[in-house]
Parts: sequence; C-alpha cells; structure tokens
Amino acid sequence: MAETVAYPDLPTESPMGAPLDWAWLRGAKSEWGVHPKPSARGLTMLDIATGTYGEVPDRPKHRSMAPRGADVDDDTADMGYILNRKTDVWADNVVELYEEAVARQWSATRDIPWGELTELPSDLEHAICQLCTLLTEVEMIAADLPAKWMWRLNHDFIEAKMFLCTQIMDEARHAEVFRKRALANGGGLLLSRSGPTSLLRTIIEAKTYTQASALMHLLGEGFVLDIFRMGELIAPTDVEKRIFRMCMQDEARHVAYGTMHLRYAVEHDPDVAEEIHEALDVGEGVLIDFGTAPDVSTALAVLLAGGTEHVEDKGFPLSMELTVKQLTSYLARCERAGLNRLERTQIPLDMLGIDVEPIKAAAGSAR
Ligand SMILES: [Fe+2]
Ligand SMILES: [Fe+2]
Repeated sequence: MAETVAYPDLPTESPMGAPLDWAWLRGAKSEWGVHPKPSARGLTMLDIATGTYGEVPDRPKHRSMAPRGADVDDDTADMGYILNRKTDVWADNVVELYEEAVARQWSATRDIPWGELTELPSDLEHAICQLCTLLTEVEMIAADLPAKWMWRLNHDFIEAKMFLCTQIMDEARHAEVFRKRALANGGGLLLSRSGPTSLLRTIIEAKTYTQASALMHLLGEGFVLDIFRMGELIAPTDVEKRIFRMCMQDEARHVAYGTMHLRYAVEHDPDVAEEIHEALDVGEGVLIDFGTAPDVSTALAVLLAGGTEHVEDKGFPLSMELTVKQLTSYLARCERAGLNRLERTQIPLDMLGIDVEPIKAAAGSAR
C-alpha cells in the first residue's frame, strides 16, 4: 500500500488555469516501498518480481497497456488483446530466459572471425551456400510468427512479450549471419524451393498461438537446433563452427520457452493438449518432407562428408544420424511438455531405429 504522508497544500490549478491532479502523490493504492535487491548479475527482472509485482494473474482484469501492478482507471482503453489467459502464453522459465537473452546478445558483424575464411573446394562452398540459403529463408519465420501474435498478448504478460522481442532480434541476427556467410567467401545464395516456403506458411497460418508455438518452437526450431548442435561436423571451417555455436545458444532458448509454454498450457488446461496434437499431426508430416527434400539432404550430406567424394559412404549415414537425433530430441521435448506423441506419431520409429526409452525418460524433466 502507498504510504500516507502529509504534503503541504498544493495548487489545484496550473498557472495557466488547467486543473491539476496530485493523486499519484498521495492517493495511489499500488504497492509502495519495495526494495528489490540486485543479484550478482545486476538488477534482473526476477529481482523485481517482488510482492504484488511478481504476481501474474491467470486472467487479467484489463486489456490495456497499463503496467501490471499500477492503479488502473476502470475506463482504461481496451486494446483488443485476444491472448488474455496466462495459459495462452506463459512459461515458468520465461523471465529467466529473457534475462539470459539480453545478457547473451552477440553481433554477426563483430563476433564472427570473417577474416579467417579461406577459399574452399567448389563442392563444399556450394554446399554451405545452399544450406545458408535455406537457413536465411527459414530463420525469419521465427521472427514473423512472434511478431504476428505479440500485439494480441495481454500486457499483463509483459515478460513473455519481452522474451518474444528478444527472439525476434535473435532471428534477425540469424538471418543476417547466414546471408553474410553465403556471400562472404566467393559463393552466393543458391536455390530457394517451394517446399520450405510451404512449411513456413503452415506455421504462420496456425489458428492459435499455442498451436503456432508447438509448430515453431517445438518442431521447427527444435530441428534447426539439432542442425546447429551437429555444427562441429557440418561446418567446413572454424568460421561456420563459430556461427553454429552462437546461433545454437539462441535457438536453445527459443525451444526451451516453447517447451515450457506448452507444458504450462497442458498442465493448467488439459483440453489444450488435443489442439496441440492436431497441429503436430500435420506439422510432423510437413517437416519430414522438408528435411528429406532433395536439396537440403544433399547439401547436408556433402558437408558432413567433407565433399562429394564420400557422400555415399560417409555423408548419408551421418545425415541419417542427424535425422534420428532430430526426431528423438523432438519426441523427448514433447514428453517434457506433457504431450505423449509416441502413441500418436506417424514417424516410422522402428524403421528409423529410434530408441523410445530415452524419450519416455524425458517425461517430467525440465530441459
Ligand atoms: Fe533462429
Ligand atoms: Fe529461433
């Protein structure tokens, strides 16, 4: 509660004769006198989530841009938000992930040792340029999609909005770094096929934010994260290794938010699980078509083989390993989110030799 202090009589009109309002000085009902303690990192959003300021309502009273915790006029403007339930957007790790995102921003201009690039054999330069063409294309969906939904999020979920802002910045940087790599070493941008663009369209057209989050964070970005995780094997030089490592940190945050958002949604509203399953039924098929598309699979295989010479004996087997990793970690993420896909998925688990035990064991774990 605001402290009651007796202030001297103050004017009720400005020198120009306009009425003055001193309610902010002596009539506020909001919590006053909070003293959040900075942590070792500085004053974080977690540090200021103190008292009533740390309480995020399940169903906010207003749909305005009023800051959560302030006294709000009853007739405050309705901004037309449609994501007004905490289960629509929240994740228990979202505040921490926002702080992590801010602390770990990097620069595609400055933090990649571009000057160390040397001429590569033509097949490898073509392959990395084709992969970068595709990545430049798909990265931006993960900026467009949060942007599409953000203005519909109730402002009481400010931390979730702020996290999505960091994701948008991250994706701009990813599009930037892959475009730069395609152009930086004597190559260029290669083929953009209709298949990948169709997948992006499926994601952007998802009917609800939670379905969109399942398709993008859990499925699409999860698959890209595993490509980055295999970056040590895919990268022809230390420059690309560094690019993949830097992008991997960012991507891991986006996937961690999505996984925990879906978990929060399913835990608090079990009916939403079916909605998510339906989106994933479609999404898995589309993504597998995308992953096995002839350009993507050949470019990755050439990179994994270190050139076209060993593409059959080394490239394709390693590429199959990557696919198994991608599907295993995706299904494990579903379990962590509280979504049992093992009973439902159309992915041919036996044919691909996917071990379901580690997937089942992931249920209930946090990351
Ligand atoms: Fe990305
Ligand atoms: Fe991402």
